[in-house]
Amino acid sequence: MSIRIHPSILAADFANFESELRRISRADSAHVDVMDNHFVPNLTFGLPVVERLAEVSPVPLDLHLMIDDPDRWAPDYATAGADSVTFHVEAAREPVTLARAIRAKGAKVGLALKPGTPVEPWLDRLDEFDMILVMTVEPGFGGQEFMHDMMPKVRLVADAAKTGGHPTRVQVDGGVGPATIGEAARNGADTFVAGSSVFRSPDPDATIHELRRLAEK
Ligand code: DX5
Ligand code: ZN
Repeated sequence: MSIRIHPSILAADFANFESELRRISRADSAHVDVMDNHFVPNLTFGLPVVERLAEVSPVPLDLHLMIDDPDRWAPDYATAGADSVTFHVEAAREPVTLARAIRAKGAKVGLALKPGTPVEPWLDRLDEFDMILVMTVEPGFGGQEFMHDMMPKVRLVADAAKTGGHPTRVQVDGGVGPATIGEAARNGADTFVAGSSVFRSPDPDATIHELRRLAEK
């Protein structure tokens, strides 16, 4: 599976998203963290902002919905121009039904798991999802430390996808940077969200290139 680097605009300048998106032209997608201050104790932005981001972004958008009631809201995000919409299994009432609804709107769908959420119940349903997001921090904030103890979960998903012949991507999010990306890649992750490490860099595109190189090693 090819390596994908998705910088998280949570670490970008919120007053200048358009120019910030131009600093990551070598990214495969921009990761967009939607937080509602209910599912997580932090608040970012909602549908109207995402719709404008989709209009101005030179790269596809990878949405990470950290919101309550994704069954109600996620399909609307799928029509907002996102390439993929990822929702949290802990918040969804009917994850498979919702995944099908998102795909029906023309977006790829991801299933996100908090660090304490086991992935085993989903390993035989990988055909329903284009991506599984294994959180490597507690969701809510950027700049936290990578949780090495999530690697067995990453490995479980990667192995199940391979065994089942599914093209499911394995995404990691939280604390991913030059010091941690290689470990995640060796455990089977192929899609990497990096917020602080990319946007705090003086040259984000050079950092994206470096992260890709480290993941491919
Ligand atoms: C955290 C978000 C992440 C965040 C990662 O809840 O889901 O996408 O932006 O930030 P870093 O890369 O700084 O850990
Ligand atoms: Zn995220």
